[in-house]
Amino acid sequence: MGKYEIALIGLSVMGQNLSLNIAKNHSIAVYNRTSSKTENFMNNKVKNENIKATYSIEELLDSLEKPRKVMLMIKAGKPVDLVIEELKPHLESGDIIIDGGNSYFEDTNRRNKILAEDGIHYLGVGISGGEYGALHGPSIMPGGDQEAYAEVEKIFEDAAAKTEHGNCVSYLGPNSAGHYVKMVHNGIEYGIMESIAEVYDYMRKVIKLNPEEMSRVFADWNEEFKSYLIEITAEILQRDDLETDEKLIDIILDKAKHKGTGKWSVQSALDLGTAVPTINAGVNARLMSALKVERIENSALFDQPKKAKVNIEKILPKLKSALYLTSLSAYAEGFKLLKAASEEYNYDLNYQEIARIWEDGCIIRSGLLQPIQKAFAENKNLKTLITAPQFRIKLYQDAKNTRDVINTAAESELPLPAVHSALDYFFSLKSKELPANLIQAQRDFFGAHTYQRRDKEGSFHTEWE
Ligand code: 6PG
Repeated sequence: MGKYEIALIGLSVMGQNLSLNIAKNHSIAVYNRTSSKTENFMNNKVKNENIKATYSIEELLDSLEKPRKVMLMIKAGKPVDLVIEELKPHLESGDIIIDGGNSYFEDTNRRNKILAEDGIHYLGVGISGGEYGALHGPSIMPGGDQEAYAEVEKIFEDAAAKTEHGNCVSYLGPNSAGHYVKMVHNGIEYGIMESIAEVYDYMRKVIKLNPEEMSRVFADWNEEFKSYLIEITAEILQRDDLETDEKLIDIILDKAKHKGTGKWSVQSALDLGTAVPTINAGVNARLMSALKVERIENSALFDQPKKAKVNIEKILPKLKSALYLTSLSAYAEGFKLLKAASEEYNYDLNYQEIARIWEDGCIIRSGLLQPIQKAFAENKNLKTLITAPQFRIKLYQDAKNTRDVINTAAESELPLPAVHSALDYFFSLKSKELPANLIQAQRDFFGAHTYQRRDKEGSFHTEWE
């Protein structure tokens, strides 16, 4: 074989699976710092001569046609900087580094700028779909120099998930646009995961369904939602534990970790002055879950709440409404954040196209992404999805239905932070009047911060004391 089309560094399962996926259509040279991992991969997984193992950075780069394209599938953060430092002396102007990890978007901007000084292109590419998606077709969110992207476009198009609307990959914009969009994808992922978890919690504690029953409810609802996260939830709830007679879900500890992308979404949203309460609820819920020991101690100090009495036939459709409202709110907040970021960072994002490439391959794929595409196709400047004709009427009905869920959850002392946040987000965004007049007055009272009036332009101050 002559020179290889692309290189991949980092043979974790994601890196391995993506290499195997790319190799179906293109030649690829791979490298991993620990060589035994490369050997294992070659001996146990590779049956395709399109993949070449290399055992040094020099050998890797020598194997490539020019301009050289080197994809990094390594842990975000410092490791990426270290590998770039290692690669740099061997690269030349026109070569392309592709970062396929969940890198922080500001890091991508910084790396882009530094490498551009030597004429090296840097593409920040979000890849979603987990291990399965990497092998069978992920959703790919590339950003960076558009000419450099043209050099790898065919490889990504071939590797991406496919739908009737095209391949789940699209050039998204300059600089960190790809990593920013992936970060928001993950923020939405946090919001939806938390919504499903809260609905599950309500079902088990208030309605007192067992995991099998809950699984059936989720599977039934998913005929309509067509959501990957709901689909895997139904599967999770069925799984038996191999070591006990319990369902595995009942054995798993109620304490969730996170790697940063959800937190960054919220931080960035705050920096841009955009509210993302449902996504934030998803992040906060994981922080609260981490306080397991403290929660156990605290629970001993309070009476155990009595659960509200509910009629299962009546409450289940309302719970479904709550899940719809909360999931949609996560998407709506995410797209609003993307809009703010696009304006601030000149990404020039195409929201319809983003919804299209999220339609399959990624973790947040669901039936909602088609009407979301339609909403943006009909109105490119749509300010919020909640007012789009595709959602407005249903959302209003779902918000009404959600009240009963909220009330009975409160009676049962069951926290539903994402559901509450989504409902408040909807109510706030459609409120002609909010109580910020009083906030203005308070600020002016204690800090002479001035206020604006309804009846004339300008800034005003009152001597309150
Ligand atoms: C994806 C996932 C993936 C990863 C998350 C997990 O789109 O394939 O989002 O990137 O599983 O980053 O994030 P947490 O560890 O923060 O939950």
